Amino acid sequence: MSQQAGLRVTRTREVEDYVLVLDEHEDALGYQRTYGDAIAEAYEDLKVIVLPSLAIDADLDFLNAIAFPPQFKKISAGDGIGDSLFERNGKQILRKSDHPVNLIAEDLRPAAMINHQIASVFAQLRVIVRQLFPAYRTLREGTLTWRFTPTGPEITHFDGYAPESRFYTREHRIKFFLNLDHDPRVWGLTHRIDKILRDHRAIFPDRLPDHLNEVARIATEWPGLQDMPHHELHYPQLSLVLGNAEAIGHQVRYGNRMVAGEFFIEPEDMLDPSKSVHNRYDPTLPYGFA
Ligand SMILES: [Fe+2]
Repeated sequence: MSQQAGLRVTRTREVEDYVLVLDEHEDALGYQRTYGDAIAEAYEDLKVIVLPSLAIDADLDFLNAIAFPPQFKKISAGDGIGDSLFERNGKQILRKSDHPVNLIAEDLRPAAMINHQIASVFAQLRVIVRQLFPAYRTLREGTLTWRFTPTGPEITHFDGYAPESRFYTREHRIKFFLNLDHDPRVWGLTHRIDKILRDHRAIFPDRLPDHLNEVARIATEWPGLQDMPHHELHYPQLSLVLGNAEAIGHQVRYGNRMVAGEFFIEPEDMLDPSKSVHNRYDPTLPYGFA
């Protein structure tokens, strides 16, 4: 059975058709050879871009037997997963007591196996994102998260960060999602933030917030967002989805095992800096966007 078997996009005519499914290629360089900077260009145009299959060296059967507890739902490289399970104390080599994988797997052998798989997938994705976006020479890693907890249905939302978060920036955000689960991951996708601002201006204060993440928070807290029409995307194991989740309304409907990555560049390093959502957003405009 081909990996593409589970890929399905059910589009609604009420939402702009911004879901772009690429022809299947073996690996990131294959996609790059065919599409070149059109991938980055489509991303800057706020498309959701689906790579139907992407070769990753991982033991998928082993990984699909693992589930992480809810407290590790969005655990990231910054939390230490993928780092060494051990630390040295003088001449002693000890297992780190606070390493998430040591907490999940009591026995050393499965712990080492899980941790190696995570480290390896992270390392491969760090290369893949650069192969997909070679024009983004100043790409900087924000985070890689290992999401191995059954998820969904969740509410439709726009990614937004609190002012104290290190992700509360005006940088251009490259976000990708790789499904590792045997089951397709299911998302709902609705309007972009500029459309919500234009069509539902009354839910926002007269004076619009300075930062787009604050607009995202208001839109997410507005109950009407849940009633918007949605496209439905089913993306199978080893398919990769690219999309700017700050600007595209989205929800997880079903999913068990996924890795997500978030990378940043300064807007001036984009192919077209004027397409940066943070550059386009102007709270002095009546609808926030021209
Ligand atoms: Fe999100």
